[in-house]
Formats: sequence, C-alpha cells, structure tokens
Amino acid sequence: MSDKDTSNQTGKTFTLTNDQTGESWQLPVLDGTCGPSVIDVRKLYAQTGHFTFDPSFTSTGSCKSRITYIDGEEGILMHRGYDIAELASKSNFIEVAYLLLYGDLPSQSEYNEFEHNIKYHTMVHEQLINFFKGFRRDAHPMAIMCGVIGGLSAFYHDSLDIWDPRQREISAHRLIAKIPTIAAMTYKYSLGQPFVYPRNDMSYAENFLHMCFSVPAEEYKPNPILTKAMDRIFILHADHEQNASTSTVRLSGSSQANPFACIASGIASLWGPSHGGANQAVLEMLHEIGSKDRIPEFLEKAKDKNDPFRLMGFGHRVYKNYDPRASVLKESCHEVLEDLGITDDPLLEMAMELERIALEDEYFVERKLFPNVDFYSGIILKAMGFNTEMFTVLFALARTVGWTSQWKEMIEEPSLRIGRPRQLYTGPAKRPYVSINDRD
Ligand code: CMC
Repeated sequence: MSDKDTSNQTGKTFTLTNDQTGESWQLPVLDGTCGPSVIDVRKLYAQTGHFTFDPSFTSTGSCKSRITYIDGEEGILMHRGYDIAELASKSNFIEVAYLLLYGDLPSQSEYNEFEHNIKYHTMVHEQLINFFKGFRRDAHPMAIMCGVIGGLSAFYHDSLDIWDPRQREISAHRLIAKIPTIAAMTYKYSLGQPFVYPRNDMSYAENFLHMCFSVPAEEYKPNPILTKAMDRIFILHADHEQNASTSTVRLSGSSQANPFACIASGIASLWGPSHGGANQAVLEMLHEIGSKDRIPEFLEKAKDKNDPFRLMGFGHRVYKNYDPRASVLKESCHEVLEDLGITDDPLLEMAMELERIALEDEYFVERKLFPNVDFYSGIILKAMGFNTEMFTVLFALARTVGWTSQWKEMIEEPSLRIGRPRQLYTGPAKRPYVSINDRD
C-alpha cells in the first residue's frame, strides 16, 4: 500500500468557551492515520484574540507528516508504516533512506539506481579540506560538522534552487552521500591522521568504517558483525518525527533557506546533551562514576531535585514505556561485545550494572525512565573504537536522512509558510526612555 495523505477534516469539532464572556468557538478536529486527533488552532488568534501557550511543545503538533509515527505509550516507532524492529532486522540503511525520502520501499531497479546515486556522490570537493585546516586540532567534531555541512552550500550552487524538484533531489543525494565522508574526515582530523577517500565497492556502513579506521600504512578490513551493527545504528537513528533537531531543520527550511544550511542547523540542535549529545554524555557519566560500587551514590544524585545531575541515556520525552530502538540495540550491543571478546571492560560492565539497578529502582520505574537508544549506541561505538566525541557525529550522519526527508516533505507541501511562533510577553510594559544622567 503506498503512503497517501490521509489527514482529513472529520466534521468533528472542539468547543472552546471563554468563562468570562460566555463566548464560545468551534475548533475543527483533524484525524491522522493513527495517533491522537489534533485540534486545529490555526484560526484561533483571528477568531478569539488568544494564542496557545506550549513552550516545550508537549501538546503541539507543528506539522502534518507522512514519514514517521511514534506511539510513546506503546513503544512503537514506524517509518512509512514499517515497524522499526522489522526494518532493523530485514532492511539496510540505504533501503531505509529510500523509504524515508520517497515514501515506499524500492523495487530492485529503484534500489540499484538509488544506491548508485549515493555512491557516486560520496567524494567531496578537494577545496573543502581547507575548511578543516581552519579548526584547532582539538576542535569538537560536531563544531566541525556544523561549519563544514553549512559550507557545502558554497560548493554546490547547482542544487540550491529549492523550488526545482530535481535540484532538491540532487541536494538530498549529496547530503546523504557526503555526510559519511565528512564525518570520517572530522574523525581523522581529530586523530591527526590523513583523510581516507571513499570506496564505491563497499556498502554505506562498510565504507564509513573504512574511511574512519584505514590508514595509509594499513588498510582496515571491516568486520561483518561491526558493519552490521553500524548499519543498524544508522537505521535506528534515521528519523524520529518532530524532535528538536528535525523541528529546527523544518523551521530553518520554512524561511526557504537552502538544504545544506538547514541540515547544519539540525546538527547544531542535535549537539546538546538532552538530544544527540546524550550518547557522548553516557560514556562521560560512566567515567565519572568510575566503579560499580559508586552507582548507588550517582542514582541518589539523579533523584535529588537540587542536583542537576541526570542519568544520561535514560528517559525520553515521548517514550513512556520503552524505547523500541533501545530494545534492538541492546541485542546488537551484546553481539558486538561478544564478537570482540570484550567480557571484562570495566566501563561496559558498569553500564550493564547501571542498567540492571536503574530498571529495578522505584524512582525510575515510577517515572517510566528506561534506557534509551543513546545508552546502548554509546557502548557499541566505544567497543568499535570510536572516541566519545564522535558519537554525536554518527547520530548526525544517520539523522541526515530523516532531516532531508522531512525538509523535502515540507517544501513539497503547497501550504508552506514561514514558521513564526508567538510568545507570552512578561517583560516591562511601555515606559519612557530616561537619559543616562537621570537614571537611579
Ligand atoms: N535522570 C533522572 N531523572 C530523570 C531523567 C534522568 N535521565 N529523565 C527524566 N527524569 C525525571 C525528571 O526529573 C522528572 O521528575 P519529576 O517528575 O519528579 O520532576 C521526570 O523524570 C520527567 O522528566 P522531564 O524532565 O519532564 O522529561 P522530559 O520529557 O522533559 O525530558 C529527556 C526528556 C530525554 C530530556 C530527559 O529524560 C533527560 O534529560 N534524559 C537524559 C538525557 C538523554 O538521555 N537524552 C537522550 C534522549 S533519546 C535520543 C534523542 O532522541 O535525542
């Protein structure tokens, strides 16, 4: 079944009454394919003179989308109707990228063509190397990513016309193809090693590992279990509905900014520890805890409202049952550790112990705080040999597919208008300007 826009005007309404004046208004209710209906408040201000107030967007649907569906209570994540666990076990990242971008699974020939298009855009302009040289050698790789991805708009003028469907498609292919090359370059730069060029005879994940771990003196032979785990991490991070970074991309794109600039804005938003930066924060937290016997002390800190410490890799705004991505990655995590023969890494042992204790602790159980995707991805990436600063970069790499698909969907929406939230102003009311000599 192909994906169609099924949202409709249901004829249902929601009545809003002003208790002071007794006036009431009928607001239309819209249904999606699944999930809660929404109250259409687009005309609310014009009709009532009131705005809605929802600073962290806990009750706000910011757009219509046909790409990803999440049911946080049930722990469901689907892309274009396909369950994430099924995609993670039966598909691969390139196919999932096609699905997100175009709406349906590809036929064999569509798959081959798409894979070919991605492979033949993996190289970056040699001049782009100069960007890297401008960064301090200890620059955080996410800082480099923000700059270099934004900088792509200066290199690919031929695909910046967002109103031309073909140019939009070429930009999307370029972003998906070049981001592993650029991500690997940031890694090499941080290590002080030469950049490694992409190889077209390798799969997407294999090529990425090759660009990260090969050196001129010795070629890296990707291990199939690690390649599979890498590909799985990419699939599980590919899209996640209207989270902070995706909403950032959409808001940037709503002003008709070019796609490279929009994805750079998404990377900036992803960087924070409450979002994509959590996978790095998990490992830093484990280092800080230091040993298993200190876990109870840190659990107490996490529960203390006067202490800003939070258990990184636990909790989620939407998932209040379990994170379905975490369930899949937990399996991969054990596979990778076993394959690499890592049975006595103290940090990883501590992670497993923390998971066990937190899952039994009343505070975490009551608040439905489960390990999220970042808890396990951090552990796998460490076992693969990545340094912690790279973790969020890998998230950005995978999420580029989701950001690009969401950006494309938004641009193709006929009713596209610039996003412009309003506010509840709580500053001073109008007051006269007082000259500096007369101020108290
Ligand atoms: N450790 C300790 N307490 C927590 C945690 C945590 N990790 N997460 C939430 N809580 C508590 C919070 O203090 C609050 O308690 P109370 O009801 O007593 O005030 C309750 O649980 C609800 O938390 P919240 O702050 O209202 O939840 P939120 O939806 O605003 O925040 C979150 C979601 C993911 C930012 C938060 O759980 C968190 O900071 N987790 C750690 C960072 C993390 O792992 N982020 C990655 C998210 S998954 C990847 C992604 O999608 O980017």
